[in-house]
Amino acid sequence: MPDYFSVDYEINDWMSRENQPSKILSMIPWWRLFGIYNTFGYNVRLIEEVEGLPDMVFTANAGLVYKNKFIPSNFYHAERRGEREHFKNFFQESGYEIVNLPPDVFFEGQGDALWISENKLLLGYGRRTSEAAIEHLKAIMPDCEIIPIKMVHEPTAEKPKEFYHLDTVLCHLPMTNTFLVYPGALSPEAMETIRSLGETIEAAYPEAEKLICNSVAIGKYILMPIGETSRFVELLNERGYKVFLIEMSEFLKAGGAVRCLSFFY
Ligand code: ARG
Repeated sequence: MPDYFSVDYEINDWMSRENQPSKILSMIPWWRLFGIYNTFGYNVRLIEEVEGLPDMVFTANAGLVYKNKFIPSNFYHAERRGEREHFKNFFQESGYEIVNLPPDVFFEGQGDALWISENKLLLGYGRRTSEAAIEHLKAIMPDCEIIPIKMVHEPTAEKPKEFYHLDTVLCHLPMTNTFLVYPGALSPEAMETIRSLGETIEAAYPEAEKLICNSVAIGKYILMPIGETSRFVELLNERGYKVFLIEMSEFLKAGGAVRCLSFFY
């Protein structure tokens, strides 16, 4: 629950201490999302937010679950490192074996690690997650294919924002094996890889900036942050999807949206 959610520091280009989210307004979409997951039969578990850790609401960044193992994130920014022990304790108390990455290997969990099938994982690196994480995760998950996706950033006056987690620019829709993707944040080789894995629906910068790719697919339903969505909604409807638009403006002030608020395991 976003009890202590605020913008206390600026670690991505969406965050400004001058532009604080409203507590009340952030509760509304948070409960909406909670209600939707429950309606779809998910067993939603909550972790208590901790005062002084305002980004803890973005539980996607807790780490990664693989079978009975939990690999906690090693946050890139000092401002988020305090979250680690809380997420770790949560999974330890739930019976998971904790597998730590070396402390100098950065890894931001499901923000950068996207399952596209039971044993195929896309791993974004180059911004929050270190390249070295690829080999470590391969060793921890030997029966999985880990596909590295290099993130790049070449700011221009019209496209100033740096996309910093893979889930800010990529979403996989399993029903039709389609990717929502913003190519501008990925290396040409990474884009080629994604195009070889499935169909792509590619976002333009104004769509990507509103974190349109930070969506969640539940079968034919897509939970998508409100923003520049009309083109995507049409393309998705044509493919048999129904889009639920969720007002995420308060979370967008911290650089997060629908996908960031959820951890799946
Ligand atoms: N303010 C947070 C950060 O910069 C937002 C995290 C969003 N999470 C995500 N999975 N993209 O770390």
